[in-house]
Amino acid sequence: MVSSTTSNASSNRPIVLGIDFGTSNTAAAYIDASGALQVIQLDGAKAEMPTALFFDTENHQVLFGSQAMQAYLAGTEGRLLRSLKSLLGSALMNEYTAVGERSLRYFDIVVLFFKELKRRCEAQAGHPFHHVVLGRPVHFVDDSAERDALAQDTLGQAAQEAGFTHIRYQLEPIAAALDYGQRISTDTTVLVVDIGGGTSDFTVMRLHAGQSSESAHVLATTGVHIGGTDFDRLLDLATVMPHLGYKHVGTGGRIVPSSVFFDLSTWHLIHQAYTRKALHFAKELWTDYSDQTLHHRLMTALECQYGHRMLASVEAAKIACSISGQPSAVDLAYLDATLPTTRIDAPGMEEALHASLQQVVQCAQQCISAAGLQAVDVVYLTGGSSALRTLITTLRQAMPQATLVEGNRFGGVAAGLAWQGVRP
Ligand SMILES: Nc1ncnc2c1ncn2[C@@H]1O[C@H](COP(=O)(O)OP(=O)(O)OP(=O)(O)O)[C@@H](O)[C@H]1O
Ligand SMILES: [Mg+2]
Repeated sequence: MVSSTTSNASSNRPIVLGIDFGTSNTAAAYIDASGALQVIQLDGAKAEMPTALFFDTENHQVLFGSQAMQAYLAGTEGRLLRSLKSLLGSALMNEYTAVGERSLRYFDIVVLFFKELKRRCEAQAGHPFHHVVLGRPVHFVDDSAERDALAQDTLGQAAQEAGFTHIRYQLEPIAAALDYGQRISTDTTVLVVDIGGGTSDFTVMRLHAGQSSESAHVLATTGVHIGGTDFDRLLDLATVMPHLGYKHVGTGGRIVPSSVFFDLSTWHLIHQAYTRKALHFAKELWTDYSDQTLHHRLMTALECQYGHRMLASVEAAKIACSISGQPSAVDLAYLDATLPTTRIDAPGMEEALHASLQQVVQCAQQCISAAGLQAVDVVYLTGGSSALRTLITTLRQAMPQATLVEGNRFGGVAAGLAWQGVRP
């Protein structure tokens, strides 16, 4: 084993990197030798980088983070991969997939991402990292302890292949609470609500003011496999996919088979809609349509591989509508310039996401009950999807006694993982 060349001078402990490998965004931080938190700027001036890779077959290079997203959206030839975390624990992880001229396992692609992540962290810190605390959701996979354990092992193996030699794990919501604990001045019972791209995770913790994070007590944790990428899928199915024939009643009064629309709306499955077999199947669907314009749009989306672009348009409209509360247009001009403007508005979003948000809030309430409490002092919101207005309103109604604190949405978990790194 390689021993660390960098250590925390005051305690002689190695410097430990905290990595929040998120479904949508990745962030990293560490506590330096003087005991100060250092947040790595992973993507230009930004702390977080999109968890995305682009295999650019025009220029024969692999791009990461926002560069990957930009190249894909600019129409560069190649293959985009997002939401890799959603594949952890699934059989797909060991399957080979075509990325340009070569074929790689999804696992190898995660390793490539971790290597680049490590390289960026070390370049900025000016020293190598061998020790890492990896964040993990409360459940990678719902309802299967075995696949959940496999998901964590796979994540650890990817970090190891990328060069980390000492690997620990911490639950993402506990990390967020440890970060919040740095800022309190009175003892507080907090419910952390971490709603990211793939999962919603909760913890109830008793945090003690003016002491180290070692004195924080976990009272309960819960989690459910619902996040922003599910909201994107639901909104895509509700607003965009009907223009391609989703729920279209075709010839003979039958509804067009829907699996292609689900693949196109699910970040980590989009590529499945482009295989030769899937394309052939989609082409044959024309007999099921009574309106051939819809089928033509479906084929354009598949042949031009617009899946990620359409979903990114939906995601952008979701975020814009969530911030402003105003209707927001989904840009689909590239698909069909004659298409009337499609908008995501607050009532439509409320309707499409209602059932999922109820499940999320229920899971939050279960966490409080599991902690043996009726209420908490503070509800601390983190994760990108915690900005959703309708969610905030529902939480306020469900927990009227608690003070709602909107935290560092994208960096809190990584900071907490860094604090975990200096805990025994
Ligand atoms: N203002 C906003 N309103 C609603 N959703 C938003 C907003 N900003 C970002 N999001 C959504 O937040 C999600 C990303 O959040 P975050 O970066 O916390 O996730 P993650 O940590 O990568 O995922 P996970 O923790 O589930 O693995 C995306 O689905 C994005 O669309
Ligand atoms: Mg997260």
